Amino acid sequence: MSLATRPLAPTVPNDLEAFFVPFTPNRAFKKAPRLIARAKDMHYITVDGRKVIDGSAGMWCCNAGHNRDPIVAAIQQQAAELDYPPAFQFSHPKAFELASRIAALAPGDLDHVFFCNSGSEAVDTALKVALAYNNVRGEASRVRLIGRERGYHGVGFGGISVGGIVANRKMFGTALAGADHLPHTYNREKQAFTKGEPEWGAHLADELDRLVALHDASTIAAVIVEPMAGSTGVLPPPKGYLQRLRAICDKHGILLIFDEVITGFGRLGTAFAAERYGVVPDMITFAKGVTSGTVPMAGVVMRKGIYDAFMRGPEHVIELFHGYTYSAHPLACAAGIATLDVYRDEKLFERAAALEDKWADAAMSLKGTPGVLDIRTLGLVAAVDMASKPDAVGKRAYDAMEKGFHEHGLLFRITGDTIALSPPLIISENEIGEIFDKVGKVIRQVN
Ligand SMILES: Cc1ncc(COP(=O)(O)O)c(C=O)c1O
Repeated sequence: MSLATRPLAPTVPNDLEAFFVPFTPNRAFKKAPRLIARAKDMHYITVDGRKVIDGSAGMWCCNAGHNRDPIVAAIQQQAAELDYPPAFQFSHPKAFELASRIAALAPGDLDHVFFCNSGSEAVDTALKVALAYNNVRGEASRVRLIGRERGYHGVGFGGISVGGIVANRKMFGTALAGADHLPHTYNREKQAFTKGEPEWGAHLADELDRLVALHDASTIAAVIVEPMAGSTGVLPPPKGYLQRLRAICDKHGILLIFDEVITGFGRLGTAFAAERYGVVPDMITFAKGVTSGTVPMAGVVMRKGIYDAFMRGPEHVIELFHGYTYSAHPLACAAGIATLDVYRDEKLFERAAALEDKWADAAMSLKGTPGVLDIRTLGLVAAVDMASKPDAVGKRAYDAMEKGFHEHGLLFRITGDTIALSPPLIISENEIGEIFDKVGKVIRQVN
C-alpha cells in the first residue's frame, strides 16, 4: 500500500506491503499504522513527532526505560570491538561474565546459564534439557511435558505444545506428542478486583497429582508454568499455589520450570518471581528484561545438579547437542551486563517493590468505570478486563489501543478485551497517575 498521498515525516516508509507484521491484524494496521521512530526513558516518539508514554515497557522488555545512556554506550563500544566469534567450541569473556551475573541473581543453586536469543528458544531449550537430563540420569521413560491452560511459552513447537492459548495452537497441527495441561488459575467469581495474589486457587496445583495418576510419574519429565501468566491477560498465582506445585513435583521426581520471560528482572519487585514466592524451581527461562529489550537475548538458568549430570564421558565429546549460532552474542552480552549494572545501581527491582501498592491503588481506581469487569495487579503489572462486544470479541480492546496511541499518547498491550500494563521500572508516581488517567479516558471512549 502506497503512502505517497499521505503527509510523511522523513522516517516513514513509502510502502507498508512487504512486511508481514507478527501477531498483528495486518490489514487494519496498514490502514492506520502505529509507527515509532525514537524512544527515551518512559516515552516513545512517533514518526510524526508525538510523545507517547510507554505503559508496557515495549512488550514487557524495557525494564530500565528506553535508550539508557550506559546501555547504549556499551552496545556501541562492543560493536566496534568484537562483532562475532563462533558460538560453538569458542567463546568470548563477556559471555562468562554475564552468565555469572545472572547466576548470582537466580535463587538457590541455579548457577549455570545456557544462552539463546528469544523466549521461545529459551522455552524449547529448557524442555530439551529436561528430556536430555532424564536420559542421562537413566530415566529415559520420562518424556511427557506438562504445561497449563492459558499459559504462553512462545511460538516454537515445544512452546505451543505446553502452552495453553488455543489460537496459538489450533492452526499448527498436533505439535509435540505427550504434552498435557494443568488447569489455569483464574476464576472471576472468586478473585475479581484482587490486588496481588488471590486467596482462592492454591488447590488447583493438586491437579498435577491427577495427571500423575493418569500418566504415571515415570513418564513425566517436567512441568512448566509462568509464575504469573502474562500474555494471556495477567493471572497472578493464587497464594500458596506455586509452593504446592513445587512440593508435588518433588514428591514425583518431576522437574519444575518457571518461565520468567516476563517476570524476570524486577517486574514483580524481585530479580525473579521465584524469589518473591520463596520457591526454587529446577530451571528458569528468561529473555526480554535481561537486556532491557535493547538486543535480542534469552536463556535458561539451571540447577547445579542438572548441569553436573551432563558432565560425564570423554572430555573431548560435546555434552549437550544443542545451541544457536547467536547464543551469547557479544552485542547481547555487552547490553546484558550494562543493563544489570543499571538495575543494580538504580535499585530498580526495589523500586518496583516500593511502587507496587501505589500502582495497585491507581489501577483499582478504575473499578466502577462502565464496562470494566475485573482488574488484577501484581508487582508493576496490571490488567483491566473489559466487557466484549457480543459479536466481536477483541474489538473493544483493539479500538482502545488505537485510540490510546493515536489520540491520548499512551501505549499498552491488549489480549482479547483485556488491557495489560507493565511500565518501565523507572516510572514516577506522577506517570503512574497519568497512565491510569489515560486508560480510564480510553475505556470510557470505547464503551
Ligand atoms: C512467558 C513467556 N515465555 C515465552 C515468551 C516468548 O518470547 P519470545 O517472543 O522472545 O520468543 C514470552 C513472550 O512474551 C513469554 O511471555
